[in-house]
Amino acid sequence: MNHTLPPAGRAGALRPGDAVLVTGAAGGIGRVVVPALAAAGYRVVATDRIPFDAPSAQAVLVGDTRDPEFVGSALRAGAGPAVVDGVVHLAAIASPGQVPDDQTFTQNAQGTFCVLDGAGRAGVRVAVAASSFSAYGYPWAGRHLSPAYVPVDEAQEPVAVDAYALSKLASEQVGAYAARRYGMPTTLLRIPFVGTGDRLREMVELARRDPGAMRQELWTWLDTRDAAGVVRAVLESGVDGYHVVNVAAPDTTSDVPTAQLLARFHPETVVVRPLEGTATVIDTTAVRELFGFVPVHSWRTGDALDPDVTAVAEGMTV
Ligand SMILES: NC(=O)c1ccc[n+]([C@@H]2O[C@H](COP(=O)([O-])OP(=O)(O)OC[C@H]3O[C@@H](n4cnc5c(N)ncnc54)[C@H](O)[C@@H]3O)[C@@H](O)[C@H]2O)c1
Repeated sequence: MNHTLPPAGRAGALRPGDAVLVTGAAGGIGRVVVPALAAAGYRVVATDRIPFDAPSAQAVLVGDTRDPEFVGSALRAGAGPAVVDGVVHLAAIASPGQVPDDQTFTQNAQGTFCVLDGAGRAGVRVAVAASSFSAYGYPWAGRHLSPAYVPVDEAQEPVAVDAYALSKLASEQVGAYAARRYGMPTTLLRIPFVGTGDRLREMVELARRDPGAMRQELWTWLDTRDAAGVVRAVLESGVDGYHVVNVAAPDTTSDVPTAQLLARFHPETVVVRPLEGTATVIDTTAVRELFGFVPVHSWRTGDALDPDVTAVAEGMTV
């Protein structure tokens, strides 16, 4: 039998001046990630399947991540004959119900495969991709599902019963494969609802009107600028291997103490560590310890609810 030894790990730490491919650049998170990386000094190749503007990017390409030829050319755009140094894979059907379930699953799994397999094969030094808190299964279950325990850490067993959650679990497995096969440091981010400005304000107001409305999301959230921040932290970390990490704001979208919300809406969940005040139910120890990442934006004290805060994305630093 022909056994192939796993390739040696690559030096992953990126620095300003390096080239980074961002997929899903026209999306809510991509529109903030691209200018944030560019403002930090990266040469960004921004791609999406819909036409879009990204003035801060070095190159803008329109194409589908499920097309290996498109991915291959995007990996080389903006980096001369060489390949980009890093890949940020955000392109996805970002919730169930937009397209039929089989399409949610196959588009997300196939797109992630083409991007991460293409990146690993081409010699990209580090990849980071969006998974989701939804991978645990509760947010889009369409029925009452509770975590077995809180805070929810990465060891908690997913209970996915929707195609989007399953597509994110499959994407995580693709990441593991790319790291094993090519030695490409690959990290999948389990992020909850991401928002800033009006999008976040709606969520906070909904939680005020009806604390139960967000019971399946467990009142979790992350500022869009912190989503860009964690992407940069992973790219610059130099951490080798494959990782799946939770990322979340330290608090909830609700004014009601988390312990009260859990007792009322998830009474069967075991609370293994006391959650003080409005602390999030998501355990973010791994992302802090591995990548040194701690979110800096808060809707309670900062500008996160300002209606036009996402408009400042162009030119911002993270
Ligand atoms: N926004 C959130 O609250 C949230 C929460 C958790 C995880 N995520 C994940 O983060 C990532 C980015 O989310 P977002 O909120 O920016 O989503 P979005 O829907 O705003 O943007 C996704 C972008 O991907 C593009 N896209 C989809 N399929 C594609 C394909 N096959 N080829 C090329 N482009 C394609 C779309 O055109 C769109 O511009 C997604 O992977 C999503 O699942 C988002």
